[in-house]
Parts: sequence; structure tokens; C-alpha cells
Amino acid sequence: GKVLLAYSGGLDTSCILAWLIEEGYEVMAYVADVGQEEDFESIRAKALQVGASKDLKEEFVKELIFPAIQANAIYESVYLLGTSLARPVIARRQIEIAAKEGCQYVSHGCTGKGNDQVRFELAYYALNPEIEVIAPWRLPVFFNRFAGRKDLLAFAAEKGIPVVQTAAKPWSTDENLFHISYEAGILEDPNVTPPKDMWKLTVDPEEAPNTPERITITFEKGIPVKVVNHNDNTEVTEPVELFTYLNTIARRNGIGRIDIVESRFIGVKSRGCYETPGGTILRTAHKDLEGLTVDGALRAQRDASITVPYSRCLYNGLYFSPECEFINNSIAFSQRNVTGDVKLKLYKGNTIIEGRVARGDGEKLYNMQESSMDEQGGYNPEDADGFIKIHSIRLKKWTPAKN
Ligand code: ARG
Ligand code: SIN
Repeated sequence: GKVLLAYSGGLDTSCILAWLIEEGYEVMAYVADVGQEEDFESIRAKALQVGASKDLKEEFVKELIFPAIQANAIYESVYLLGTSLARPVIARRQIEIAAKEGCQYVSHGCTGKGNDQVRFELAYYALNPEIEVIAPWRLPVFFNRFAGRKDLLAFAAEKGIPVVQTAAKPWSTDENLFHISYEAGILEDPNVTPPKDMWKLTVDPEEAPNTPERITITFEKGIPVKVVNHNDNTEVTEPVELFTYLNTIARRNGIGRIDIVESRFIGVKSRGCYETPGGTILRTAHKDLEGLTVDGALRAQRDASITVPYSRCLYNGLYFSPECEFINNSIAFSQRNVTGDVKLKLYKGNTIIEGRVARGDGEKLYNMQESSMDEQGGYNPEDADGFIKIHSIRLKKWTPAKN
């Protein structure tokens, strides 16, 4: 049979590629370009037959990254979902190419303990119910033979597969335009502080410039449409260019690092470090503009019915599902009035808000006279009397628990 393997050029997928061939499959390697800083030519040289190296950056930014920003998507209060966000785009193209190339099987290098196996495979089945999946790390013939990294390295040597790094980088990474993740290896002890030279996408905040950088981000209906850098008058507007530019300035200011222990869908806890440079700036700016332009009750409703379930769908690999399709179609609606500018200062790992202005219908919500403590306006202060009295009725009948 013919297999399309999601291939990264790393040790695991390189061995899987050679192993599938040894097992008698006709294998095509598929390399997704989701914006990882990678030498695609050397990956191409390693794979025998490359199905496609496809640039998925534009759809990644427009279909996943921007909606995630609009929805304020976040998992367990800290993780910006960088790996989860790229999986739907990668899996979708893999299924398309498999169909075009007449592959009956698709394969990947995810372990049997993680989220990614779930994300890839649920996406595969949702997009092609007939597809057959080969998950080597869950097959006894494979995992019994390659019990540890040593066995993989020996196999790679035997098959003439070139292996870079390994010893110098004792952890596993997953990178795309939005983020990089670091997990496993020395990071498995949650109390081990990652070495300074692990971080790849941002400078150490301590080494970031002493002069702050000031920018303005313009949003239209919750989507960033312009970034202006006031230090050097740079201006960007195209989605991929805009996001890449935010990555660049976040990187040099040390913005976007986190170190967490998270709850995988599969039920195990996992320690991970992440850098999400541009995404961290966008999230901060977007949330701020919502403060000015989104009705308070709508915002609370959106948090409960979009932000939380959407984030869970993404994390748990249910992007291609009825519930996520429904949520996805509600995001834009919740953002109708999120239009305006946010002024920010980037300084040593921090994204500091310095001001904001709304345009369009979102302008109506904030009224300086109504909110002012220095003047009468908006409504009669005596009306607040009744508001408080009515709300106190039930509180007066309640006895607080003693402790
Ligand atoms: N823990 C993160 C997540 O579940 C990152 C996973 C990284 N994946 C990988 N294949 N290295 O989204
Ligand atoms: C893996 O298990 O392959 C990586 C980590 C994850 O998917 O959660």
C-alpha cells in the first residue's frame, strides 16, 4: 500500500520513513511549511520521495491564528495553543495530498502518550472517513524494536540517515510561525530550570534593549490589519508579513516565554516551555481593545461560550467537529465592533498598554462624560440608589458562612 507520512526531518520521522519502507510500504514524505525556521532543502534531501513541501503559512495565519486572537483562545490560563493551532492545517493538507497521490494510508511520528496523535487522527477521520492510519509509536512491532533513543540512532546509522543535534538539545521541539514548544528530556523534571540557550525564538528579557519600542496595532473587527513602529516608522499590513513582523519585534524585546505544567487530553500531566512572541503581543492588544469596544454582558457571554469551549476544541484535537464549526462561525460575529488602535510599549519581556482608541460602532460604548468622576452626566445619580437597594434585598437575608 501507499503511505503519506507527515515528515519533519527529525530522528523519529526519519526512522519511521525507513521502517515503513522496510515493512514493504510505498512511502511518500509530506513536509508542511507552517513557518518553522527550518532548512527545507536538507529535509527534502533526507526524504527519498517528497509528496510536497507546501507553504501553509497564509491559511495558518488567516484561518487559525487570527481567529484564535479574536477569540482570546488560551488553555489552562497560560498556553496560547501554538501546536494545537497548526495541526488542523497540517492534517487537512496531508489528507488532500493523500487523495491526490492515491495513498490509502497516512502516518505520523506522534507518541502514544500525547495530544498530537489525537489531533492528527481525529482530523484525518473527520476529513476522510475511509482513511487508514499507521501510528508506529502505538504498534508493538515498532515500539518493541525501538525501545529508546539509542535504538533509533543505531537504526539511523544503519540506514544512512543523517542525524543532527540530539545530545546538545536534550528535549523535543515543535515549531511553527506562531510558536515553538520544548518538552521531554531534561524538562521532564518540572523543577529543572531550562538552560538559557534552550530558548530559540526570543532573546533573554534581561538582554533585551534598554530603550523601549513603541508600536500601534490597528484592528478591524478583531483582526489585526496594521502595525506601525514609531521608533523607525515601519508599517506592515499583509497578514503573514504583519504577523512575522510582530514576531521579529517581540523576539528582540524578549516577549512571549512561558514555562508550565499542563493537563494533556489523554490524562497525563506534562511540563512544557513555549515561546509565542508575536501572538503574545497580539493577545494583549486585542483584549485591551475589547475592553473599550465590547459590551460587558456580551464579553462575559463570549468568554463562556466561545473562548473556553473553542480553546478546549483546539487543544483536544476537535477542530474539525460540529461544535467547533459552530463556534468558529460565531467568532466573527462577536467581533463586529472590535475596531480601533492600541498603543503599546515593548520593553524587556513586557507588553505594556499605553492607550487605545475605538472607531465605528464600538466608539459608542465608552462615554467620557458618563464615566467621569468630575462631572454629572449620563444618568441621574439618584437612580443608582434604587439599583443598589434592589440588589441588596436578597443579600440582607443571607448569613455568611463562619470560618
Ligand atoms: N504540549 C503542547 C500541546 O499539546 C505541545 C506539543 C508539542 N508537540 C510535539 N510533537 N513536540 O499542544
Ligand atoms: C507527542 O506525544 O508526540 C508529542 C507531545 C504531544 O503530542 O502532546
